Amino acid sequence: MYILGMESSCDETSAAVVEMSEGQRRICSNIVASQIDVHRLYGGVVPEIASRAHIEAISRITYEALEQAGIGIGDVDAVAVTAFPGLIGALLVGVNFAKSLAYSRHIPLVAVNHIHGHVAAAYLSHPDLKPPFLALVVSGGHTSIYRVETDTDYVEIGSTRDDAAGEAFDKIGRVIGLPYPGGAALDRLAYEGNKKAISLPSPALHGETLDFSFSGIKTAALNYLNSMQQKGEEINPADVAASYTDKIVTAITQKAETALLQTGMDTLVLAGGVAANSHLRASLEALCKRWGVRLAMPDRALCGDNGAMIAAAGYFEFLKGNLANTSLNASASDDGL
Ligand code: KG4
Ligand code: ZN
Repeated sequence: MYILGMESSCDETSAAVVEMSEGQRRICSNIVASQIDVHRLYGGVVPEIASRAHIEAISRITYEALEQAGIGIGDVDAVAVTAFPGLIGALLVGVNFAKSLAYSRHIPLVAVNHIHGHVAAAYLSHPDLKPPFLALVVSGGHTSIYRVETDTDYVEIGSTRDDAAGEAFDKIGRVIGLPYPGGAALDRLAYEGNKKAISLPSPALHGETLDFSFSGIKTAALNYLNSMQQKGEEINPADVAASYTDKIVTAITQKAETALLQTGMDTLVLAGGVAANSHLRASLEALCKRWGVRLAMPDRALCGDNGAMIAAAGYFEFLKGNLANTSLNASASDDGL
């Protein structure tokens, strides 16, 4: 069946057509209109600007997605849209557009949890992947570990108590002069630095808990940068990138290991925008190899927000009969509708 997936929870407007059936996942189109250039001027996402940019892009993007897939709206079997969590004004653009489209063309409508969407990106890259598995979602807004029991049932077993890893990368990236969002640039820069150069605290909370806290490492890095500036000493951005990345990657790997041991799961999915981080991918590959665990990661191009992942998650909601109707609303919260 053809699913039209729509995503507008933050700063990418995306529409995609994915053909899904038992054992088959084919991305027919995946159009992403990024607003990064607009928000870069402000060093972060400005919610009101994001909503307006979604409104401007959404019809065009949807048309392009259908055209590139070589199908008409009449061929679409379900419309899947991100309904939560995210920026409320941004989400409402996608939800209202999808509702109107589904209502006017008599197409079933499915509401998708953005986090489930990130995890579902792994199904697109690994068609044989099936729950149960452990999912580590690391993005600009989340750093959480889930026990995924069925394609639609997730139990959160760990999460950050404050900032998300992506947010922490972006903040330090900005301070050392990288363009927003700094995550990808910091990833590259880290190869040129010494990871032992700067001493920073671990974001992994002590003990058996699967929780993180990124505010401490963020503040410690900012304090280091400020004190260097006050002393008139030159900083080495590559050393900052290497030390900071190493501490974050090590902490995430450590909690992933604890989660694998606690749950006895034999498959780990890494998803979310930060899943594109090459150091994190390599570290989890080594961990999973050590324990004989299967690691399923979406292709790097599918880690950031995109409509194809929403279509994939929507497919499983559709199979479960979880259909939405015109009363569908959006919600900023992780807890959903
Ligand atoms: O999942 P996503 O596209 O949006 C949210 O749902 O939050 O994640 C965006 C985050 C940003 O913080 C961005 O800097 C980060 O993913 N990111 C990376 C890399 N590529 C994107 N962080 C570290 N290394 C990367 N290669
Ligand atoms: Zn996301």
